[in-house]
Amino acid sequence: MSRRILVAVAWPYASGPLHLGHLGGAYLPSDIFARYHRLVGNDVLMVSGSDANGTPITVKADEMGVTPREVVDTYHPEILGYWDALGITFDLFTTTMTENHHQVTQDVFLRLLEGGYLHKRTTEQFYDPGAERFLPDRYVEGTCPHCGYEDARGDQCDNCGRTLDVTDLIDPRSKLSGSTPVRKETEHYFLDLPAFADRLGDWLNSQTTWRKHVKNWALGMVADMPERAITRDIEWGVDVPVDDLGPGKKIYVWFDAVIGYLSAAIEWAASTDDPEAWRRWWEDDTAESFYFVGKDNIPFHTVIWPAMLMGHTELNLPTDVPANQYITFKGAKASKSKGIGRSIGWYAERLQPDALRYAIASVLPEQNDTDLSDDDILRRVNEELVATWGNLVNRVLSMSSRNFDGQVPQPGELSQEDEKVLALGAGTLNTVSEHIEKVELRAGLRAAMDAATEVNAYLNATEPWKLMKEDKERAGTVLWAAIQVIAAIRVALYPYLPFTTATIGEMLDGNPEVDGWAAPEIAGGTKLGEVAPVFDKLEPDALD
Ligand code: MF3
Ligand code: ZN
Repeated sequence: MSRRILVAVAWPYASGPLHLGHLGGAYLPSDIFARYHRLVGNDVLMVSGSDANGTPITVKADEMGVTPREVVDTYHPEILGYWDALGITFDLFTTTMTENHHQVTQDVFLRLLEGGYLHKRTTEQFYDPGAERFLPDRYVEGTCPHCGYEDARGDQCDNCGRTLDVTDLIDPRSKLSGSTPVRKETEHYFLDLPAFADRLGDWLNSQTTWRKHVKNWALGMVADMPERAITRDIEWGVDVPVDDLGPGKKIYVWFDAVIGYLSAAIEWAASTDDPEAWRRWWEDDTAESFYFVGKDNIPFHTVIWPAMLMGHTELNLPTDVPANQYITFKGAKASKSKGIGRSIGWYAERLQPDALRYAIASVLPEQNDTDLSDDDILRRVNEELVATWGNLVNRVLSMSSRNFDGQVPQPGELSQEDEKVLALGAGTLNTVSEHIEKVELRAGLRAAMDAATEVNAYLNATEPWKLMKEDKERAGTVLWAAIQVIAAIRVALYPYLPFTTATIGEMLDGNPEVDGWAAPEIAGGTKLGEVAPVFDKLEPDALD
């Protein structure tokens, strides 16, 4: 029975280049997960897009002296280029500027309004009297009331990660003018989060497989949760679908961005011959949904979006939110807003896509912040990917090709150690599968690489290169056994290293595809393709 799996991936602001922190936080893990599930035969829908709204976009537009739309039109194609270069396989990567997204957002707003979950209230917002403008959250900076960090943004503190109400900031200052903003009354719609607190608490408590840090964070938030404004005094964004707030108001970016998962599924379905197909992932309660996000997005995916879904009443709640912690670069968070680190595109120009995928997959910050440097990348590629896996494939296939007429050798009688190494194939596929099912992607990669290490040890113990002269049949048996395990490890690595999996497939039996999550048999006598090193060893200055 094939499962339906929605792979929902955080929507990056199209306000600048993305960095390795983004790649490791959400995009690579989601792709590994999606590729695995497609391969085992599940029905995967993987969607995301550029977040076109919010102050990151308008701040950038002001800086560049262009419209917000032009900002998105600049960076959205760049982001699409990363996915193309690295093989990140979205079914749809759209933007929140589409007609469809605006429509779906307004529909959800109206549904929540009819359900009685949206309340209109007068509040005080910061206003810059000089600029004569209300100040959106990110236009106000100040000291975090929780941790004392002096450069906290109005919506969130980058230091302690807490979501903030802009009016809680100590010593607030306007980003427009640097002056101290004043409070001014304004009317907004609020989402009645407290109405969902009990249900959210029960639902969160019933999760047995979620990452601890994710679940704890969400439960902590539910314990003390005010209503949240979902409209803003801004000019760029989705229109409020009722006119009783007066002019100059739009829907708050976070309210519309999470709806993107739904609107993108609808947009995707509209492009197929079954426009209703999105319902299979959203309305059928046997479908599963996994939300791949960075830890700063946890509140929105584990509490606010689930509350909106509960209020909507007909859509599935997340199955899991396997949020990652941060990849840090020598201690500093790789953050676009801080401009630390180079873009994904910069690395993609200098590394083979699978080398970059490997380096990032092996440090995915699944439980803790994980530090990464360019030296770590070089070392992981050269000492692990090239030395362990690349070298194994290369020496086994070239030795076979050279000595056995370009063919997979025929096996003779199998020894105990041959049987033992052969069992590694199916065993590794099982182990890796168990890890990926639990979204332990880093451990899955480790298990596959450990198997490669074991095959290398088997070769070092049996020394087929020496046997070649003394006992060629025995040498052939050893190589045949190694090839069987290589073929299985190749399948296990497919979700992680899809490009070189194809290359190795061509060398093995001329088939670049991977046909399923099972160890294929590469029979003796199979004609080998042309054998060449799969990975480039990196020079020490490759990333200078
Ligand atoms: N653009 C936001 C961010 O980068 C939101 C991403 S996730 C979604 O933090 F929920 F909004 F889709
Ligand atoms: Zn803080």
